[in-house]
Amino acid sequence: MITEADVRAALREVSYPGLRRDIVSLGMVRSVAVRNDRVHVSLTVSTEREEVPALLREAVRARLERAGAIRSEVQLLTPERKPAERDPWSGQARLAGARRIIAVGAGKGGVGKSTVAVNLALALQLTGLRVGVLDADIYGPSVPVLLGLEDGAKRARMNDHKQILPLEAYGLSVVSFGFFLGEKSPAVWRGPMVGKAVTQFSRGVVWPDVDVLVVDLPPGTGDVPLSLAQSVVVDGAIVVTTPQRLASLEAAKAVAMFTTLRVPVLGVVENMSYATGPHGHQWHPFGSGGGATLANDAGVPLLGQLPFEDGMVGDADRGAPAMVAVPESEVAIVMRSIADQVRRALQLDAVRTEGAA
Ligand SMILES: Nc1ncnc2c1ncn2[C@@H]1O[C@H](COP(=O)(O)OP(=O)(O)OP(=O)(O)O)[C@@H](O)[C@H]1O
Ligand SMILES: [Mg+2]
Repeated sequence: MITEADVRAALREVSYPGLRRDIVSLGMVRSVAVRNDRVHVSLTVSTEREEVPALLREAVRARLERAGAIRSEVQLLTPERKPAERDPWSGQARLAGARRIIAVGAGKGGVGKSTVAVNLALALQLTGLRVGVLDADIYGPSVPVLLGLEDGAKRARMNDHKQILPLEAYGLSVVSFGFFLGEKSPAVWRGPMVGKAVTQFSRGVVWPDVDVLVVDLPPGTGDVPLSLAQSVVVDGAIVVTTPQRLASLEAAKAVAMFTTLRVPVLGVVENMSYATGPHGHQWHPFGSGGGATLANDAGVPLLGQLPFEDGMVGDADRGAPAMVAVPESEVAIVMRSIADQVRRALQLDAVRTEGAA
């Protein structure tokens, strides 16, 4: 005989389409009723993705059947009918000190998210905006190195209300998980712990009234982007990929995730698109076409293609981002063009005027 506990356990194994989180931990299960091996489950669903309700219904039915349900009914409710405390988005807030928030994500690791995030922040700053950087990569924060803030753990401070005060680098206001992680390996953090940490981290910073906050995410579609999008309003996302098909296939999952999280994808940045040989000829060490294919499939712009530049690794390791170390480099030029597009997409001019008023 299947019990209510069996049903709840089974539902914990059903993930939300496109995410790794299960529907129970997302707070979507509203009620469960069991009678004579017949199961009734009602879920609250709020999504703009048309395919989600059918996928959910099917996934729940299939899982319940495996758990021994003879007949199951899955009722899907829209958010208007669910109590506010069950709404996974109800805790979402607009950050007081940041007018717009952009997340930089990717499917695969090592494609250059952090490099793009930091240089985009600097390029946006060049257009006259006040810019903050939040390094939300709990698993491998690299912003302290990239912005020369390796002593951040020693210097970072909290105020009396336990709010984090950003450090400054190249005019940017910067906060990184790296300032606060101890010796304990964050790789073993469980989802709910990550969620709590991200919420506290994204909301508990006293930003000095920045026009735009650039958030560097860990690779993939895990708990960090989910928790971020549920804690604060993220105005747009940029997805970084390298040109090879494998990277762009992974990046497509990141695009789908942002769409599920109702974060508009502003476009794709293709990094390490080409290299220039000693005689000026260009070649493609990491393949070609991935960024364009991804952008095309997702129906979003390809914001720019950044070349692989030899000196960049060393400069980055020394805490000198390309925008600062080689401001006339091709990378810097493309980054400025990306910043202009982001500025337009987020209507940051209007944002700036709002602030001045
Ligand atoms: N266009 C480029 N030319 C040369 N080197 C680059 C370029 N972009 C990034 N790199 C180098 O590649 C490495 C990985 O970049 P980065 O740390 O930005 O990637 P990531 O996607 O944030 O990685 P992770 O998944 O670990 O967070 C760094 O050493 C960086 O300096
Ligand atoms: Mg990174």
